[in-house]
Amino acid sequence: MKKILLFLLCCVAQYGIIAQNSYHIIPQPQELIAQKGTFTFKPTTKVLVESKDESINNVAALLIAQLKATAGFQLKSAIASGQPNNSVVFKQDSQLPEEAYRMSVNGKGILITASTGKGAFYALQSLLQLLPSQIFKAETSSNIAWTVPACSISDAPRYAYRGLHLDVGRHFFSVDFIKKYIDLIALHKLNTFHWHLTEDQGWRIEIKKYPKLTQISSQRSETVIGRAGSKKFDGKPYGGFYTQAEVKEVVKYAASKFVTVVPEIEMPGHSQAVLAAYPEFGCNPDKIYQVATDWGVFEDVLCPREATFTFLEDVLTEVMDLFPSQYIHIGGDECPKKQWKESRFCQELIKKNGLKDEHELQSYFIRRIDKFITSKGRKMIGWDEILEGGLSPNATVMSWRGTEGGIAAAKENHDAIMTPGGFVYFDHYQADPKTEPLAIGGFTTLEKVYSYDPTPKELDAIQQKHIIGVQANLWSEYIATNEYAEYMAFPRASALAEVAWTQPANKKYDYFLQRMKTHASRLEALHVNFYKGFLK
Ligand code: ACM
Repeated sequence: MKKILLFLLCCVAQYGIIAQNSYHIIPQPQELIAQKGTFTFKPTTKVLVESKDESINNVAALLIAQLKATAGFQLKSAIASGQPNNSVVFKQDSQLPEEAYRMSVNGKGILITASTGKGAFYALQSLLQLLPSQIFKAETSSNIAWTVPACSISDAPRYAYRGLHLDVGRHFFSVDFIKKYIDLIALHKLNTFHWHLTEDQGWRIEIKKYPKLTQISSQRSETVIGRAGSKKFDGKPYGGFYTQAEVKEVVKYAASKFVTVVPEIEMPGHSQAVLAAYPEFGCNPDKIYQVATDWGVFEDVLCPREATFTFLEDVLTEVMDLFPSQYIHIGGDECPKKQWKESRFCQELIKKNGLKDEHELQSYFIRRIDKFITSKGRKMIGWDEILEGGLSPNATVMSWRGTEGGIAAAKENHDAIMTPGGFVYFDHYQADPKTEPLAIGGFTTLEKVYSYDPTPKELDAIQQKHIIGVQANLWSEYIATNEYAEYMAFPRASALAEVAWTQPANKKYDYFLQRMKTHASRLEALHVNFYKGFLK
């Protein structure tokens, strides 16, 4: 009897260890073989780096810093080869693709193999997720066994571009919040932060050559209350912008987490805030423009005059100096053509250039900007309206009005990033609108996000290669606080991570939900105000 009890106790203890150290990684790795046994970090564990690549060293330093913060261990590091007992080894293998990694965990220690810091960083994210969730806290937790279950992982992303967007034009978010957002992007093995920096309701980036963009365009007199068009306003001035020093700080911070920041400067639409400061770039230079106070799509757009192009090239030059990203986003969406139709200048420009209509004038506008960005060695991205009137030669299309834009772009041998409203617009409701705070509309549940396959079946194998990735967008008309932004983004961004990273054969919604229960405790530890409906 005693023996049976002892056996049962062992089982419970064993089960406890397994439950605590389940293999609940998000996004799910391509290959994870569970093994018997565990490795437990101790204050004497060594971190050894067998690589000449500085970026792999930096990742080893991140592991050491995390264990210092949460376990209170000051692990020693060294450049070394071989794997002695009680060690974590980071080893370079230049044969592996840039973002791929291998990791094996056994009773002796952990071996991480990657070709660059990127792969090593993704291995580190998986390793942290194999540890108890307290590893994600900022403060030290005592009495915790920092144990990792034995396994062998071989992993690499499905898509090269894995993005999350934030609109800071409608509502402004602090540098501290942007850094937290980037932390969460990196935790989920996403690699791009799309920073939507300019809008009708506010221009948010300092441009030295045009100081009125921050003096005037970054401020609005008040904000609509409730739904767009309610005609009720709060009477409170609202504004904010990032200095160039802050932008540099964000870009550097993101790079330390292997996240690229893609800036978006909207043109020719969504530019009412620019016109409030510089009316000469509009079609009615004598008009008194205001930074918009309501939400919507407005008729006051940039006019394709030479002076406007000079302005935009100056702005983009400063932007490209700040952002090393290969991609520069120029918006291009929702540009009403009314003013261009009514403008003698625009009509003459159409005639002079043999253009058919205002849609071809938009294409003329975008082509000029594409040429400029390409001449600087960068690549232009635009929303799918840049297909109207003919796609410019080097453009990458961000498909948001469904998937058609991405399909059309890929058929023309252009790269596309899929971000269709119905699946990955995180400003949409995620649960019954009757029980949720005010949102723009739509209904995009966690399961719907998870179900999305970004590679359209309509494309052949060669065209499919032009689908370089997927992104979710967080527009902020109805999102005025950090807490609400987190609530709308999470856990849907966790589902996005799996859409972007995990091969379809390894995706199962039930198992995702099971892993999300553990992931929820990580989000708690990180003080993320996530939607909890999926835990029921
Ligand atoms: C967009 O949602 N207007 C790109």
